[in-house]
Amino acid sequence: MKDKILNILKKNGDYISGEDMSRTLGISRAAIWKHINNLKKDGYDIISVTRKGYMLRSAPDVITPDKIYPYLNTRFMARNIKCYKETDSTNEAAKSDYSCPDGTVFISEVQTAGKGRLGRSWLSPRGSGIWMTVLLKPEIPPMDVSQLTLISGIALCRAIGGKSKIKWPNDIVIGAKKVCGILTEMSAEADRINYVVCGIGINVNTKEFPAELSDKATSILIETGNKTDRCNLIAKVMNEFEPLYNKYIQHGFSSLVDEYKKNCVTLGKEVKVIYRRKEIKGKAIDISSTGGLIIDTAEGILNITSGEVSVRGLYGYI
Ligand code: BTN
Repeated sequence: MKDKILNILKKNGDYISGEDMSRTLGISRAAIWKHINNLKKDGYDIISVTRKGYMLRSAPDVITPDKIYPYLNTRFMARNIKCYKETDSTNEAAKSDYSCPDGTVFISEVQTAGKGRLGRSWLSPRGSGIWMTVLLKPEIPPMDVSQLTLISGIALCRAIGGKSKIKWPNDIVIGAKKVCGILTEMSAEADRINYVVCGIGINVNTKEFPAELSDKATSILIETGNKTDRCNLIAKVMNEFEPLYNKYIQHGFSSLVDEYKKNCVTLGKEVKVIYRRKEIKGKAIDISSTGGLIIDTAEGILNITSGEVSVRGLYGYI
């Protein structure tokens, strides 16, 4: 009923009396009033004026499938969208609903236990970011799954645009600060993947970060000064991700490595890699055709795969 009232208010665009609505919907004026109050609690700005009725002034800035679909030009990605007001982690939501169709996207306004890589937590406050997970069912060897994260990084760079770059393997940074992180998890048997959940967190309209993050994290709003329509950006990410994914499935990561390298800010930098609790220092000189970071170290040239790695610049975050 709340949705029906909302639709009437949206279509009407002007004042509509409680009496007219109660007649159209066949419920009492008191019931209309109750639903209007609930809509206000959900963040809808509805004005009520005696003898005129109700008018919708603005809708809350919430992500809904209806606001994403008009921007989408994908065939299967995000054709099924599940939105939550709140969940622990969209990766967990996707895992518990893995029988959903390939390409289903799970989005939450807030995550109470957002997860980052290497067991870290991911700050996911209400209203300012995109916290979403894409459920995928690729027929690739389980050991190649980190390449999916790399290509989602390319998609994110394309969609966010501006000065966004990839810090290998899969942080999206603007300047020296992180604007987006990707956490890919999978369920697999020895030689086949059951499903992959590709979790993407983008700091979109965040105005400021807690002190402990402010020198490492940034948002699109902080960098550009402009507020971004989150639904439009979700669609842009999916519109970029799907063709990259299709190309990857058909031709492998080597067909995308050049674009990855062009966007990768780690190349040419002195890096310190924490790999299996061992610290390795060297210069990042290339990305291999399978997505590994090639480092020139005192012990020779190493090809590091992304699984368990944390990369730090010797002089700063990158
Ligand atoms: C990282 O850089 O450490 C990865 C961060 C990934 C965060 C996203 S937000 C949506 C999805 N759900 C989670 O719990 N984590 C990912």
